[in-house]
Amino acid sequence: MKRKPSLFAKPKAGSKPQRSKQMVYPDVLEVESLSHEGRGIAKVDGKTIFISGALPGESVKYKIDTQHRRYDEASCTEVIKASPQRVEAKCQHYGTCGGCDLQHLNHEDQISAKQTTVIDQLDRLGHFTPETIEQPIQSPEWNYRRSCRLGINQLQRDGSAIVGFRRRGSSKLTHISDCPVLAEPLNEILKALPSILETEEDFKGITHAELSEGDESGALTLRIKKPLTDHLSEKLQQLASEHNFSLFLDDGQKLQRTDKTAELFYQIENSSTQVYFEPGDFIQVNASVNNQMINRAITWLDLSKDDRVLDLFCGVGNFTLPIAGHVAAIVGVEGVEEMVERANQNASRNQLSNCSFYRANLSKDLRALPWYKQGFNKIILDPPRTGALEVIKQLEKHQADMILYVSCNPAALARDGAELIKQGYRPSRFCVMDMFPHTSHVESLVLFER
Ligand SMILES: C[S@@+](CC[C@H](N)C(=O)[O-])C[C@H]1O[C@@H](n2cnc3c(N)ncnc32)[C@H](O)[C@@H]1O
Repeated sequence: MKRKPSLFAKPKAGSKPQRSKQMVYPDVLEVESLSHEGRGIAKVDGKTIFISGALPGESVKYKIDTQHRRYDEASCTEVIKASPQRVEAKCQHYGTCGGCDLQHLNHEDQISAKQTTVIDQLDRLGHFTPETIEQPIQSPEWNYRRSCRLGINQLQRDGSAIVGFRRRGSSKLTHISDCPVLAEPLNEILKALPSILETEEDFKGITHAELSEGDESGALTLRIKKPLTDHLSEKLQQLASEHNFSLFLDDGQKLQRTDKTAELFYQIENSSTQVYFEPGDFIQVNASVNNQMINRAITWLDLSKDDRVLDLFCGVGNFTLPIAGHVAAIVGVEGVEEMVERANQNASRNQLSNCSFYRANLSKDLRALPWYKQGFNKIILDPPRTGALEVIKQLEKHQADMILYVSCNPAALARDGAELIKQGYRPSRFCVMDMFPHTSHVESLVLFER
């Protein structure tokens, strides 16, 4: 492979970071493995160097960006010997945009690398190894994202629009003219937004755009600090309707729909369930992985009409609703009131009479809450990145036969899994899910059985 400057090389900074006096840094490093955030790991005199943009088995030139006492952070500046797993990044913004960090690794190898790092973290931090490792849940390689949040800035200099994501390693915005991981209509709206905004002299009052796509329609939601002019509002509505999207305006107080097109929903594959949602609600971003994940959850939990299931961190009922038809009863618990309301409406729209939803902060003491006092033999946990330790400590009294943990953070999963094992569970089944191809984010499922 031809030598060329790495995409990850940061622009030259004013002052070079100080290199420690005792250590001699060679010009070229051999990369030993991949860190759990997708950086190459090399060693100098026993000190770990994390090199962004480098892959295991490669020899690379590098630039030290930040030194710490026990490790250094660096960027790959030139690949001397390339890994056979290395591929050309598809996106023109790769290396600058903070969104993707693994596009230089072949898609097939990304998910196996992620599987290795999760298993390693469970072992290192949680001191457990899953009994069976099942096939990863695969994703389409591109156009998989059905929701995203874009930042919007107006440049002082010439009034032009910056629409995009955060720059790599910075809180500043970088302009994105095309994003291949976004679902097609989202990418088309991203491409068209700048020229529409620029028809207005001053659009500094618009700070963000959130895009979400349902099966039949989508939402373009703008976060605004002041009302839009009629001209801009009309242009934006026109853009939205070209893609069968509705324009929503969010002034921080309330969400306002500017037209009356169809509601947002997605259908779960192999089920008649339709899940309705509103802009701002949590939805799983990758529709294909979500469908497979729900179907795997149904299989692993071995559901029957005798089961009473508790679905914690249930959102608008993504697991609760398609599982309801398989069991005697299911209770969903969620912290955001509006999503609990939506979940209840979803139950009636899907004519499900055996599911009920409650609002609760699952980090708090739950013992006095009516749903907590009911009996459940199977439990689903789908917590945010912080994990579910507080609630897991309170689940012991239920003595559930199975707990399915859906994780977006391997470190929290390791900690929480160790607590479940202490309570008498064994990690019987495990798989990783390719929810976010080309990024180092990894999601996984673990079934804990008593
Ligand atoms: C990863 S999402 C999963 C949602 C849902 N299971 C799904 O598949 O769409 C986590 C959910 O937990 C909720 N949540 C976060 N912290 C919470 C807390 N302390 N108590 C209750 N719910 C919380 C969020 O609002 C979000 O809906």
